[in-house]
Amino acid sequence: MSHKIRHLAIIMDGNGRWAEKKGLSRSAGHKAGADAVKNIVTACRKRGLEYLTLYAFSRENWSRPKHEVNFLFDLLLKFLRQELNALIENSIRLNILGDPQELPFPVRQALRHACSKSSAGREMVLNMALNYSGRDEILRACRSLLQQGADPEKVDEQLFRSALYTGAQPDPDLIVRTSGEQRLSNYLVFQAAYAEFYFTPVLWPDFDEAELDRAFEDFQHRQRRFGGL
Ligand code: IPE
Ligand code: IPE
Ligand code: MG
Repeated sequence: MSHKIRHLAIIMDGNGRWAEKKGLSRSAGHKAGADAVKNIVTACRKRGLEYLTLYAFSRENWSRPKHEVNFLFDLLLKFLRQELNALIENSIRLNILGDPQELPFPVRQALRHACSKSSAGREMVLNMALNYSGRDEILRACRSLLQQGADPEKVDEQLFRSALYTGAQPDPDLIVRTSGEQRLSNYLVFQAAYAEFYFTPVLWPDFDEAELDRAFEDFQHRQRRFGGL
């Protein structure tokens, strides 16, 4: 039986190690990683995925050296400038998971612009997790429900989900992590409850269409039980 993947989430890890192996700077690794992002977005759209969620910058990543953080945001600005038209042409809607308030002003502005320009996209949602923390997302949802004065009896899963960044989106069916690390790193803590996991030693800049198909193929052999038999 083949099961369909509606929502793929990826932890794009290993840019630094990819660069180190080649004797290049970490920045060169991130640049190669951004090229991999473009390819994977296109490949997922071609394969009819409805939701693609990419972990681009965690809240914990602020602890990296300032020049690396700046380089990552410059790359993001470049990505938005270069790819926005392609997103619109391919009916892909950009959506941000994470608190934009703490992002540098030009990044915030470019994101607002890109999200609004691509908002008519119906074929695929591209969620970019930026300044994202899964635990913080849950805390924010709690705060927001309390502030609204929600009736405790009425706080069910559906209402709680509506206060998360992912809103009414379906949970990820598959979570891929590259670079051999086998952890969640505060990604989609609530939404990952019944996700399948695929860990590959391939470093993110080397994760291409063939690797994507390998992950999808592996997923086909999973037996999802959701607690049943
Ligand atoms: C992933 O690659 C990109 C981000 C976290 C932004 P890393 O930069 O974590 O690469 P490694 O883990 O050091 O190899
Ligand atoms: C997770 O990768 C965050 C992103 C891919 C953006 P990290 O490289 O930051 O995760 P840890 O520190 O190894 O857990
Ligand atoms: Mg890493």
